[in-house]
This record gives sequence, C-alpha cells and structure tokens, in this order.
Amino acid sequence: LSLFLPLLFLPPLLSLLPLECFQCNRVNASGVCETGGSTCQTQGSQQCFLRRIFENGTLSYGHQGCSQLCIPMKLFNPSVIVEYKCCHDSPLCNKF
Ligand SMILES: *[C@@H]1O[C@H](CO)[C@@H](O)[C@H](O)[C@H]1NC(C)=O
Ligand SMILES: *[C@@H]1O[C@H](CO)[C@@H](O)[C@H](O)[C@H]1NC(C)=O
Repeated sequence: LSLFLPLLFLPPLLSLLPLECFQCNRVNASGVCETGGSTCQTQGSQQCFLRRIFENGTLSYGHQGCSQLCIPMKLFNPSVIVEYKCCHDSPLCNKF
C-alpha cells in the first residue's frame, strides 16, 4: 500500500504539469526501440509508464508511453513476469 499512496495523493498542481515521456510500442532487450519510437506529453493526471516483460528470468522486451492508469504492479506466471511502473518526477523518466 505504501508504494502507491504517494501516487494517489499527488498535489493537484503537480499532476497538471505536462511531462514528456518516452513512447515506444516495443523496446528490445538492449533498450533499442524497434517500433513506434517517439515521445508523448502527459495530460491531466497521466504519468509516464514503463512496462517490462521478463521471460524465464531474462528481460525480453518492453513498452513505454503516457498513461492514466498508474498502479505499480508485478504479474507473475511460471515463466513470465510483467512489471509495470509509472513515474512523474522528471521528463523522460520512463527510460527502459
Ligand atoms: C535490439 O535492436 C538492435 C537494433 O535493431 C539490435 O542491434 C540488437 O541486437 C537488438 N537486441 C536484442 C536483444 O535483440
Ligand atoms: C521458458 O523455459 C521453458 C522451459 O525451459 C520453455 O519451455 C519455454 O518455452 C521458455 N519460454 C520462453 C518464453 O522463453
């Protein structure tokens, strides 16, 4: 719970400041954006997000962008881990 409390109680002024984020449909394991590379600008309560997919314990690929839904989480299954993170502290903070 303590992990996402700070996100839920963002001061309104801060959440309104537009922030530039990396946007990419697919970032490969070396951190190179393979498709859809650009940046996006957050609006309203959006934040930068970074999703990373680990397969069999190895970083496999990722996804970056701007999102309204920002609940930090980790989903597990026997061979795949999906890690979802958001940030709003600095421009382009969702570096892979
Ligand atoms: C990621 O993409 C770059 C550029 O296409 C390539 O050189 C690199 O080998 C790729 N890395 C992986 C892990 O596939
Ligand atoms: C993970 O490892 C298992 C067992 O070695 C293999 O069957 C499976 O295809 C692997 N999955 C991925 C996504 O590499």
